[in-house]
Amino acid sequence: MSKIRHKLVVMISGNGSNLQALLDSDAYCGDIVLVVSNNANAYGLVRAQKQGIETFVPDKHNYDEFLNKKLDEVQPDGIILAGYLKIVPQQIVKQYQNKIINIHPSLIPSFCGKGYYGAKVAQVALDYGVRYTGVTTHFVSEQADEGPIIFQEIVAINSEDTVTSLTNRVLEIEHALIVKTVVYFCNHCLKVDGRHVLIGGQHEA
Ligand code: GAR
Repeated sequence: MSKIRHKLVVMISGNGSNLQALLDSDAYCGDIVLVVSNNANAYGLVRAQKQGIETFVPDKHNYDEFLNKKLDEVQPDGIILAGYLKIVPQQIVKQYQNKIINIHPSLIPSFCGKGYYGAKVAQVALDYGVRYTGVTTHFVSEQADEGPIIFQEIVAINSEDTVTSLTNRVLEIEHALIVKTVVYFCNHCLKVDGRHVLIGGQHEA
């Protein structure tokens, strides 16, 4: 029996190591047909181009309009925010309800929301003195980092950690978690029930 294919758009802003994890995975992570970036210099665009994937950087002056138009053309089944550091326009969030997934480098609801992104998140976790941080994948809702949580993984912080060491350890976990999340999504194993995401019909323990 042939598998139903899943057309995905991945959105990035920088290095694109999470995008690379999806590209390198042996598991079915959808057909990535387009990589969008708000940053024309993002290395993630090069990663996509090396694989022959179309890339797109919406014009800064009419950003939302250009992005909208492109997504209308592509008609994706899902949009993966893999280190995308810009707020997604509300109209797109509404149109793709429960189809946009974000990865965040903390255990939401800690250290998340407006202004918390990339290495800054490791810095605030270290400054706060928490013993554990982690990674969260979630569906995107109208409020930044507030949508229903899909998976979370814990990362322990030790006394020798620096922003760099913690960021790198968290990133390693991210790469596995983004793949797992996209595999579940593309296999129709995630069902949103209010604030909860049922995994394969069950709440994840
Ligand atoms: C990742 O740590 C990702 O979780 C984070 O940006 C980094 C991008 O790395 N995203 C956020 O902070 C979103 N709020 P990458 O470009 O190497 O994938």
